[in-house]
Formats: sequence, structure tokens, C-alpha cells
Amino acid sequence: MATERKHLLFFLTTDPHPSPFDINMAYDAGFHAVIPYGNVTEESGALLVQDIIFSRGPKGAKFTALFIGGNDVELAERIRETAVKNMFPPFQVSMMIDPKGAYTTAVALVAKVDKALGGLKKKRVAIPGATGPVGRVGATLCVKLGSEVLIGSRQLAAAERLAHQLSERTGGVIKGAQMATDEDKISQLRDADVILTTGKAGVQMVSETVLKTLPRGKVVADVNAVPPTGIHGLSANDDLKEIAPGIKGIGALAVGVLKYDVEMEMLETIRTADTFMILDENTALEIARRRLSA
Ligand SMILES: NC(=O)c1ccc[n+]([C@@H]2O[C@H](COP(=O)([O-])OP(=O)(O)OC[C@H]3O[C@@H](n4cnc5c(N)ncnc54)[C@H](OP(=O)(O)O)[C@@H]3O)[C@@H](O)[C@H]2O)c1
Repeated sequence: MATERKHLLFFLTTDPHPSPFDINMAYDAGFHAVIPYGNVTEESGALLVQDIIFSRGPKGAKFTALFIGGNDVELAERIRETAVKNMFPPFQVSMMIDPKGAYTTAVALVAKVDKALGGLKKKRVAIPGATGPVGRVGATLCVKLGSEVLIGSRQLAAAERLAHQLSERTGGVIKGAQMATDEDKISQLRDADVILTTGKAGVQMVSETVLKTLPRGKVVADVNAVPPTGIHGLSANDDLKEIAPGIKGIGALAVGVLKYDVEMEMLETIRTADTFMILDENTALEIARRRLSA
């Protein structure tokens, strides 16, 4: 070997443009090079993985890692499965999956609320804007932690379709509801113990009118840092601040700091791993909970 081994991260994404956010983080986590591939499918993913694992030989495997991302969470999961199927000892490289940042973001969001309430078991969680990657992963995590979940969308059919799909997959209680207007939200959100807003960046999901009608005793949390934030009166840095009588809020940057730490630890772990490992939302949740209890 002419030169010392470089740490390489192969970034396979379902999107046309690999996310600069994840590329920046990977360099900051110490990778010498991040090699992005866009529009990856199961078929092209399989071919890429074969080229990745064989060229550096068994000793090169620990200097090589794989990151699977993209907006299409289900396709990213299938690419993960394909990647695993196409590797075998000693040609295995460690990998992490975080489609559109949704695993680490949803984990940070849910872990913060879980800690604030001393657990999510038997809590009623409502998620306006749940049809995006962060919302759907957040719904799955809440069910896993014992909550009943109400998924919201502007389209009733989209909410019901996703609720059905996620309840079949998780075996948990997930329902769908239309949350398009203030009137919809006033009736759908009042009984929730927890409201998680996971709407598109720059879109307010809970208005002042809706907030004023909510009964006391709720925790609300948001992931949208682009003004206006997802919940009226909630600033991105708020961390369990009372934003209305009896309603405490966690803002997007309070969530984002934990998300950043979790993603960074996952990247550093796959960069330095001596043995083959796969890091996903379960690993992310363990890391988030450990960090929050430290
Ligand atoms: N804090 C962090 O660390 C962090 C990290 C990553 C992402 N984020 C943020 O997380 C949020 C969710 O990301 P994502 O990728 O899952 O979201 P997304 O796919 O961009 O949007 C989520 C949902 O928002 C709803 N929506 C879109 N436009 C709307 C509008 N005009 N009015 C009301 N609802 C609307 C849509 O639901 P329907 O069409 O079904 O109504 C959509 O499925 C974003 O705000 C993103 O910036 C935060």
C-alpha cells in the first residue's frame, strides 16, 4: 500500500441531490472523503455496494462506510436491505441509515418529549403534518414507546392511508385525521397529551387561534426552525418553556442540537468501527436517551 488508508464514506441517496447537511456532517465527523450517489434504486444500490466492498479488500473494509439517505424512507430501507444482502464476511462495511435526516430528527424530537413527560406510555400523541419523513418516523417511534398516535394531514385520505400502513407495520394504535383548517385542529388536538408538529419548513401548523383553545397540561414540540416556526409563540430555542397557560413547548433548535449530536455520534461510530455494524433509528434512540440522561 503506497499511502495510508483514507476513511471513505459512500453516500447513497434516493434523491437527485445528496443532502449537503449530511455531507458537511460527515466531513466534520472525520471522513477524508464523502462520495455521493443520487437517484439510487435497489438495483443500482446493489451494484454500487459490490464495487464498494471488493475494491479495498478485507482490510480496507474498516476504512470504508456507507450512509443511506433520501426523502423516500421506504426506498431507503429497501436499499439498506439490498446492501446487507450484497455483503458477506469479510467484505462488510459499516453503515448508517438516516433518510432525509428523519431518523435522527424524529428520534431527537420524541426523546426530548419522552424525557419531559417521564415516558410516553399510554400518552395520546397528535402529529400535524405527519405525512413527511420526520412525522411518519416520529409516529412509529411514539407507538414503539407505548403511545396512541393521531396522524394529521391536510388530506384525510393521506392521513388514513399512512395510519393504516403504519399500524399494520407496528401493531400499534395509529389513526388518521384531517388537519387542514383551524377548526379541524381545534377539535383534533384538544384531547392530545402531546402535539408534535412536523410540517414543511416555514409553515405554521398550530396558529394562535388553535393554541388559545388548547386545554392546559400539554407538551408541544416542533422541528421547523424556519420562521414562522410550527407553533405560534414557540421560539426555536425554547426548551420546555410555557408558551400558553399550562402548555410547555420545545422548539426546533432545542431538538436540533440533540439531533446533531446523535447524527455526529453515529457517523463517528461507523468511521471508527472495527467490526461490521448497522446503525439505524433504534441506535439513534439509544444514543439520544443516553445523552439526555447524562
Ligand atoms: N430541527 C431539526 O433538526 C430538523 C432536521 C430535519 C428536518 N427538520 C424539519 O422537519 C420538518 C419536517 O421535515 P420533512 O422532510 O418530514 O417535511 P416535509 O416532507 O417537507 O413536510 C411535511 C408535511 O408538511 C405538510 N405541509 C406541506 N406544506 C404545507 C402547507 N402549506 N400547510 C400545511 N401543511 C403543509 C405536508 O403534509 P400534507 O401534505 O399531508 O398536509 C407534508 O407531508 C421540516 O420543517 C424540516 O425543516 C428539522
